[in-house]
Formats: sequence, C-alpha cells, structure tokens
Amino acid sequence: MSTAVLGLQWGDEGKGKITHLLAREAEMVVRFNGGPNAGHTVIDRGVKFGTHLIPAGAFYPGTLSVLAGGMVVDLDVLTTEIAEIGAHIGEEPKLLIAENAHLILPYHRILEEVEGSGAHFGTTRRGIAPAYRDRAAKVGVRAGDLLRPDVLEARIAHRLGLLHRLWPESEAIQELTASKLASELVATAEPLLGSIGDATSAIDAALSSGGHVLFEGAQGALLDVDHGTYPYVTSSPTTFAGLGNSIGIPNPEVPRRIGILKAYTTRVGAGPFPTEMDEALGNELRERGGEFGVTTGRPRRCGWLDLVAIRHTLRVNGATEMALTKLDTLCGLDEIRLCTAYELCGERTQRFPLSADILEACDPIYETLPGWSETFGEAKELEDLPQAARDFVGRVEVLTGTPVGIVSIGPAPEETIHRNL
Ligand code: GDP
Ligand code: IMO
Ligand code: MG
Repeated sequence: MSTAVLGLQWGDEGKGKITHLLAREAEMVVRFNGGPNAGHTVIDRGVKFGTHLIPAGAFYPGTLSVLAGGMVVDLDVLTTEIAEIGAHIGEEPKLLIAENAHLILPYHRILEEVEGSGAHFGTTRRGIAPAYRDRAAKVGVRAGDLLRPDVLEARIAHRLGLLHRLWPESEAIQELTASKLASELVATAEPLLGSIGDATSAIDAALSSGGHVLFEGAQGALLDVDHGTYPYVTSSPTTFAGLGNSIGIPNPEVPRRIGILKAYTTRVGAGPFPTEMDEALGNELRERGGEFGVTTGRPRRCGWLDLVAIRHTLRVNGATEMALTKLDTLCGLDEIRLCTAYELCGERTQRFPLSADILEACDPIYETLPGWSETFGEAKELEDLPQAARDFVGRVEVLTGTPVGIVSIGPAPEETIHRNL
C-alpha cells in the first residue's frame, strides 16, 4: 500500500525517522518538494545522518530513491549525500532525478543575501526562494538541461545577463560567468547524468503495478506557500495537495497518508507562533528535545501543541492517520497544555487564519492535562506507557478526530510503537 509521510507543523516533526522506518517495506521512496532547506535525521544501524535531498530509501540497497519534479536540487549537496550514504551502505544508492526538477545555482544563494530576504524571514539561506522564483519566471535551469550542455549554458547566460544588470553593485554576482558556471555544473553532474530521467513514468509504473511507493514530504504544512503562515513560509507546496503536481500524476493512489506531529511545536525562523512558550520553559524543552536545526544549527523556538493548526493541516493533507513523535520529551513535566481554540478580537474561534498578521493577533485557549513523572523505558505497546501519557494520546485523537497509528518515544527506529488501526 503506498504511503505518504507529511509534516503537520512548521517542519522538523520527525519525518526522517518515520520515512526511514517505513522505507524498509518500499520499493521506491520519492521526495516531492523543497530542496536542501530540509534536514531529516535518520539513525540507520546506529549511525546518525542528517539528510537534505536524498529520500530515506537510499539507506536500503535496491530501493529506488526519486527526486521528483517539484524539487529544487543543489548538486553539491546531493553529491556529498550520495558519497556519505554510499560509504555507509557499501554501494551507490539507486537514484532517479526528475528531468524537470530545478537546479539551485550559486547566484540563488547570493540573491538571498544581497536582497536581504534570508535575514528578514530567517530562511535556511540555501537559495530556495530565488530558485522557485526563477522556475515561476521561466528563467530557471532544470536537471534535464545538464544532458545538453549548450542549452544549459545558454539558459544560465540569459539569467545571468539579467542579474548583472540588476545588481551592478554586487561583486559576487558580477564575477559569475555563464561558461564557468555551466562547466562546473557539468563536471559535478557527470556521475549523475545516467540518473536523470522521466520520474513521472517510473512513479506511474510503480503505482500502477500495485508496488509500495513511499512519499517523503519535506517541511511542514504550516510552511506551505499557499496554505501556511504566508509570508513566513517556504516557496513550494509542502502538503499532499501539492504532491500530484510535483510528480505529474493527478490524484495518485496513496491510501495511507500519515501526518507527522510532535507532542509539542517547534518553529525555526521568523513568523507568528501562538503557542510559543515563555523563555524558561522554551529553553528547557529545547534542551530536552535537542531542538537545534539539522540544516542551520539554529535553536528552534518551542511551544505547546496547537490543535487548531493541526486540524487545518490534517485537512490540507487529507491525512488518514497521525504519527505522534517525541512524546518522551514531555516525560517529567508537571502539566501539559493543548491549544484547542484561539481567541481573536474577544471571540473564540476554531479557524486557523491564513494571514500572518491575523494569526499574530490570536491568543491560544488551552486545555491542561496532567503530566507524568516516569520515563518510558523500552515500551513496545501503548499499554506500556504511563496512564497520563496514554490519556494525552487519546485526547489528541479525540480533539482532531484522527487516529494516532504510530507513537515515537525516542530517535532510534526501535523506539517506536505501532498500533493496529
Ligand atoms: P524532520 O525534518 O521532520 O525529519 O525532523 P528533524 O530530523 O529535523 O528533527 C527531529 C529530531 O527529533 C531529530 O533529532 C530526531 O532524531 C529526533 N526524534 C525523532 N523522533 C523522536 C522521538 O520520538 N523522540 C526523541 N527524543 N527524538 C526524536
Ligand atoms: P524539514 O524538512 C524547519 C523554514 C525556514 C524559514 C522558512 C523559509 O527539515 O522539516 P526557506 O529556506 O525554505 O526559504 O525558509 O522555512 N524551513 C524549515 N523549518 N524544517 C524544515 O525542513 C524547513 N525548511 C524550511 O527556517 O523559516
Ligand atoms: Mg528537519
């Protein structure tokens, strides 16, 4: 049965861990959005990896890892990941890069600096917004262009000509030349050329033959360019709604759509965050949960679980179940809060506003649950957890109307409780 793993918050929910677990059973694992802004932690046979582009299928020899058309790919980052994972598994991961996936070029990263957008929004500064903007403006460069170096250089020359005129004061941009950029790209891409191709047909064939295709989402639904907290979002769709367009298959048959959520909330970068904790508690949770960015190392902002936001993101994703991660991080807290509604202009509301300024004006309304003092040890079933922890899971299910099929109680794959739904 094909499955999608989708973030329900502002990213870093533990998608890497869950995808890696489920990828054991998959014949193909597909990343469908974003680029090296993602940082997914995978612990494979005791070794910890932070992946940015390669889907978790790469840890299983023989499983095809697909980078779909909706992605923006940085070839330097990809090459490093292939080498690291290849050395770990003892062979090159099997890879397919969609010919219509866009490439991140050096000027995309420079633009975030010279425009000041990286600092203003607290982006990952990996060139994500400029690369997606070039895609929409039809001045982007795609993976398939690498197969025709003359086309590649002409496309870069066109874009660079515009940038040279726009940024006369930027030395970093002025010193770039199309011929040098193109030849560097071709050299880096050389070992990958055989992996660039028609991802849509490959995914279509796997789905049509009833194979298990696993889709690995990046970021979280609250960072979705349309349905997130705009403008404090990333630049691509991040939800199941965007998956069909990325892979070129409308309404793909994906019966299991798992929304991943932490037992609390984190956010990296700027933007509204109604349930953000006060500094002391936020610092405590950050230390307990190791809440520092995989991509940038930045401390993550911490807050309580926001079920108004989760109800919104479950719907955008058409999620059929949830995976609740990092429940162990809450062990030892006296009480735990769940945001069940917002107060906006004196009125109680269940609606998640799509404008950052309106969300900023929302105050959380909390339900308080008792905490538990015990740690989880080697719990294998939900019944092995303290009653208060089970009650917390049950309350999240009731308040969202969605079952929790997986409870994660530690970063390692074996620290996971699977439930039969
Ligand atoms: P992703 O971007 O959604 O893949 O998540 P990240 O890897 O950026 O952040 C999740 C962090 O939590 C990583 O350090 C994981 O190793 C860790 N993690 C995942 N699940 C659990 C869990 O259940 N408990 C604990 N303590 N850590 C977890
Ligand atoms: P994973 O896949 C957490 C955030 C950035 C910034 C905003 C825009 O690991 O969950 P961008 O560089 O995309 O233009 O930045 O989005 N952001 C993430 N936050 N996890 C991620 O990915 C993120 N990818 C982007 O911090 O606030
Ligand atoms: Mg992450």
